[in-house]
Amino acid sequence: MENIRNFVIIAHIDHGKSTLADRFLELTGTVEKRKMREQVLDSMELERERGITIKMQPVRMIYHPNRPESSRDEGPERSEGPDHVLNLIDTPGHVDFAYEVSRALAAVEGAILLVDSTQGVEAQTISVLDLAKELKLKIIPVINKIDLPGARAEKTAEEIQKILNIEPDGILRVSGKTGEGVDNLLEAVVKKIPAPGGKAESPRKALIFDFDYSLHQGVIAYVRVFDGVFKKGDEIKLAQSGAKFSIQEIGVFKPERFSVPELGAGSIGYIVTNIKDPATVKIGDTLVSVLNPAPALEGYREVQPVVWTSVYPVKEEDFSDFKKAISRLHLSDASFSFEEESSSVLGRGMRLGFLGMLHLEIALERLKREFGVSVIAASPTVAYEIKFKNGETKIVFAPSEFPEEHETVSVKERWVNFKMIVLSKYLSSCLKLIQLHEGSVSGSDSFGEDRIIIQAEMPLRELMRDFFDELKSATSGYASFSYELGAYRDADVVRMDILVHNDRVPAFSRVVSRSRAEREAKDAVEKLYSILPRELFAMKIQASALGRIISSRTLPALKKDVTGYLYGGDRTRKMKLWQKQKKGKKRLKEFGRVDIPHDVFIKMIRRS
Ligand code: GTP
Repeated sequence: MENIRNFVIIAHIDHGKSTLADRFLELTGTVEKRKMREQVLDSMELERERGITIKMQPVRMIYHPNRPESSRDEGPERSEGPDHVLNLIDTPGHVDFAYEVSRALAAVEGAILLVDSTQGVEAQTISVLDLAKELKLKIIPVINKIDLPGARAEKTAEEIQKILNIEPDGILRVSGKTGEGVDNLLEAVVKKIPAPGGKAESPRKALIFDFDYSLHQGVIAYVRVFDGVFKKGDEIKLAQSGAKFSIQEIGVFKPERFSVPELGAGSIGYIVTNIKDPATVKIGDTLVSVLNPAPALEGYREVQPVVWTSVYPVKEEDFSDFKKAISRLHLSDASFSFEEESSSVLGRGMRLGFLGMLHLEIALERLKREFGVSVIAASPTVAYEIKFKNGETKIVFAPSEFPEEHETVSVKERWVNFKMIVLSKYLSSCLKLIQLHEGSVSGSDSFGEDRIIIQAEMPLRELMRDFFDELKSATSGYASFSYELGAYRDADVVRMDILVHNDRVPAFSRVVSRSRAEREAKDAVEKLYSILPRELFAMKIQASALGRIISSRTLPALKKDVTGYLYGGDRTRKMKLWQKQKKGKKRLKEFGRVDIPHDVFIKMIRRS
């Protein structure tokens, strides 16, 4: 056990976690040279396409301290002796996936704090770091991308010093790209991160920090063993759910699954449970012996979705396949919530809850790609707590069910507290943006040489209204932030409906700030105007709120050339055909229900 080191890399999005992990895999010979490609650990197609990590991925590496002389020149003192097992859990950097990171933190003893030297410390890095400190993890501060001409290593070191309260000489400098300094970093991991505690002879106890699912092996739990030894055939119980199983297979991540005879205290690996009902296995549960159960570990706090959307199968008869696909997706992403719901207007569907808009967008994309399911998705919304005049209080998750003003006594919405770090020269545009999103600043302080840290609050609804992207463009990417949920407060919002050809389309309804209703109405109508396919008849696209139409546009009819086959000459024949077409169009206009293609719903959700 004294030769095991378990750690994560904490970094802001794009600061180079996955690239550094690649170098680790190369240096330790974990992945063969010919199989090496960029960002090996991002194995999901979407991750590679977008260049971001979505799902955490553990990997076990064997590190040989006795490397050739040539690579052992300077740097911290070398550790001699036996091989070390280094378990790294690669985690996502985007704020929507922070929950994945917090889960990984509970399974390790140390963290590399990786900071891009061209960007400096970012707000979200600080919030993850706070969590790591709370868990008493050993932190190794590292400055990355020192190969770049724009690297500002000194400045970055000062910022790290400030947040960690340490001496600058304890900060390592590396380039994940060229590999410079990476060797030293691995040495530091061995030297500075403590070996796991726990006892091999104590009753066995392991934390489930993630899981996977396969049709024939059932739930495959990703575990950190804290005490005892787990072997194939052991009779195991889940401390919280009470479910029992016998271990079918046990193994480690190389990074693909590799079966081993046993996992002892301090190890990270997987356990095949053969439990076919995934609902019995919760992330955060503890695996213990059936005969001599150890007390359960603390587990994780329940994750709270912040943004909701209702989704429906394109054809109602596909509901059961659609439901199956959603529960399958949930097996690889336990951080979204789902619940069946039935709306009087939209029929049977599912209400899904996500940790942010990127999370939502990625899940809908995965449904389509990985499960071949096309959905109609309603406009996303935050939850509103509504007190009705009849004394009832209800949480409303769907804009189409948001009541009329005269039915309610009060409407409350969730606020968030957030921390933001921004370059001083962008301060005024940031403040303006916060104000535009109905937020207010509660404090600020200088951070490093030319940056400012701001504390502010705003309605969650406004945070979800594209705040991330607007912040990015207002500051050319030189701002970052993290947030936590605050209290419910009174909300001044109204429901806005969209009518297409005089029919309300409930999936397009949204809840908007009263003061922004007209702007939102105009934007929604314009957007729909630009993406809705034309019909053979003209169609009105309207937005209404508070009982009146506040924006309207008419999408012209598709012109079909009914006279195309006639050559020149006889104009009266053409006239006849036009008359006939006109009559047909009028009928269509009266009876023509508009079929809205499902991708229009998805396009309406995407802001850009
Ligand atoms: P997420 O997983 O999405 O959080 O990103 P990440 O932190 O894993 O970053 P990633 O490794 O994907 O690197 C982001 C970009 O920075 C990529 O284009 C890398 O090629 C580049 N990069 C990473 N490390 C270095 C480095 O040391 N030097 C240079 N020049 N570029 C680097």
